[in-house]
Amino acid sequence: MAIKPRDADYNFDVAIIGSGAAGLTAALHLPRSAKIAILSKGPLEGGSTDWAQGGIAAVVDKDDTIDSHIQDTLIAGAGLCDEAAVRFIVENSAAAIRELDELGVKFTREGNDYHLTREGGHSHRRVVHAADETGHAVEHTLVGRVQQLKNVTVFEGFTAVDLICEPSAKGESRCVGFYALDKNKGHVVTFGAKVVILATGGASKVYLYTSNPDGNSGDGIAMAWRAGCRIANMEFTQFHPTCLYHPQAKSFLISEAVRGEGGRLLLPDGSPFMQRFDERLELAPRDIVARAIDHEMKRLGIDSVYLDISFKGADFIAHHFPMIYARCLQFGFDMTKEPIPVVPAAHYTCGGIAIDQSGRTNLDGLYAIGEVTYTGLHGANRLASNSLLECLVTANAAGHDIAGRLNQIAAPPKMAPWDESRVRDPDEDIVVSHNWDEIRRFMWDYVGIVRTTKRLERALRRIRLLQSEIQEYYANFRVTNNLLELRNLAVVAELIIRSAMERKESRGIHYTLDYPESDDTSPPRPTVLTPEPRAE
Ligand code: FAD
Ligand code: SIN
Repeated sequence: MAIKPRDADYNFDVAIIGSGAAGLTAALHLPRSAKIAILSKGPLEGGSTDWAQGGIAAVVDKDDTIDSHIQDTLIAGAGLCDEAAVRFIVENSAAAIRELDELGVKFTREGNDYHLTREGGHSHRRVVHAADETGHAVEHTLVGRVQQLKNVTVFEGFTAVDLICEPSAKGESRCVGFYALDKNKGHVVTFGAKVVILATGGASKVYLYTSNPDGNSGDGIAMAWRAGCRIANMEFTQFHPTCLYHPQAKSFLISEAVRGEGGRLLLPDGSPFMQRFDERLELAPRDIVARAIDHEMKRLGIDSVYLDISFKGADFIAHHFPMIYARCLQFGFDMTKEPIPVVPAAHYTCGGIAIDQSGRTNLDGLYAIGEVTYTGLHGANRLASNSLLECLVTANAAGHDIAGRLNQIAAPPKMAPWDESRVRDPDEDIVVSHNWDEIRRFMWDYVGIVRTTKRLERALRRIRLLQSEIQEYYANFRVTNNLLELRNLAVVAELIIRSAMERKESRGIHYTLDYPESDDTSPPRPTVLTPEPRAE
């Protein structure tokens, strides 16, 4: 018997799922009269934003130009960027930095100007930063500001499960809320909202080795896909070339700014190798550097390569990279005295939910912003430090767009509560942890830095099998955070594999031995996947 709809447990004008740079910035740009919810799976600072190191790319130097930043972005994106999106975001970069400055972010300065660092693919020094903890400075400031807003209610420890949609007046689907697991109480509640914003970050946790926090399981992408949203360019997972290689370091990132300030990549015998791969050496775009490292590791059968900046001296290193220096010391490496071992790891999801310049998805009532999205900025490879910039600019745009139409949007209707009548407590957590491990391992081995059609086909067979097992588990047992993340990872893995199979060429970060060249016979196009309409 169907359960009768009733008022949602919580009702808001706008519900923002995610409390990183994107979600918090959107909250600051919504009207103070709007009743807003912000959800995060764990503590507010638990996403990637808090971990960002290098900085935010922006045109703030008088010798730099918007066209130069645009060109660098287009070159890194390997012909696949949406030029209008790139222009829109870059043109708003200086304003985004000014706003953070006014909110109180303490960027590193040189006299009256920002100190600008350099990263791969940038033809100018243009990365504004707060030493090597830019993300923490941004997140801390934004959290402080949002917590002062009386119209915002924060829900920490709530994991959104699925979007709730209903037919709109036009007969199309409209998002009116979502289910969320209240991890504090252990049950699923309903949120109703006139507008839902997905700001849930990336999906790099789908790979065994990643620089990302544990919660980056692509929940927003999976939820949007299940609700009928278009998802684009999922074959482009960016692998950061330099994460610390140490069993306990859990892929701790060594910022590209270390190479920007002169750091050299070396083989175990101390010889440099990037000159064999690209004339831009260590500052070539990330895909090239990551592939070069992968190639050398496989060629020599070594566990890591090395990154050396010791020649810059202890004062320089302690001043520019205080956090990285301290963390390396904790793991027994003194970067002021010796090269440190580094390996590539999955770092950034270039694809995601397709949105327009206002953050609107193709589902009425649903916006998406930040790493969870595909805006067209990154194309086939993201230029370093363009991500926080994208979060700030698109969140601002979405906030303004929503503010302009909120009054015309109907309040959410009654909705079906979560149905737990046919499930029981999970009996064997090992099923979840085993499947989780299996997905991440075969994604690393078969859908990683270097791909082949055979490996992709193998991965697709595996994921289909695992999906039916996970679905059965999901249908029979009470949900837990781990099960929800596993279910989402399986969706994201399938989207990555299918997108990679559709791209019959190598471009940017997507590299396959079966099609090692870019196909330049026709203009390159994004890979857009559209869900099948659901059977009612
Ligand atoms: P996040 O900051 O990741 O926040 C996601 C939020 O969503 C979190 O609050 C999380 O709890 C919440 N969430 C997720 N799923 C759910 C769910 N189901 N229910 C409820 N809440 C949910 N980019 C740069 O531009 N410059 C840099 O220097 C830089 N350095 C980086 C260094 C590291 C180590 C990493 C990992 C990334 C770095 N990046 C950098 C990338 C950049 O940090 C991210 O792309 C960006 O911070 C993403 O912000 P976001 O707001 O989209 O998501
Ligand atoms: C880094 O500091 O290397 C990360 C920069 C980025 O991901 O944009």
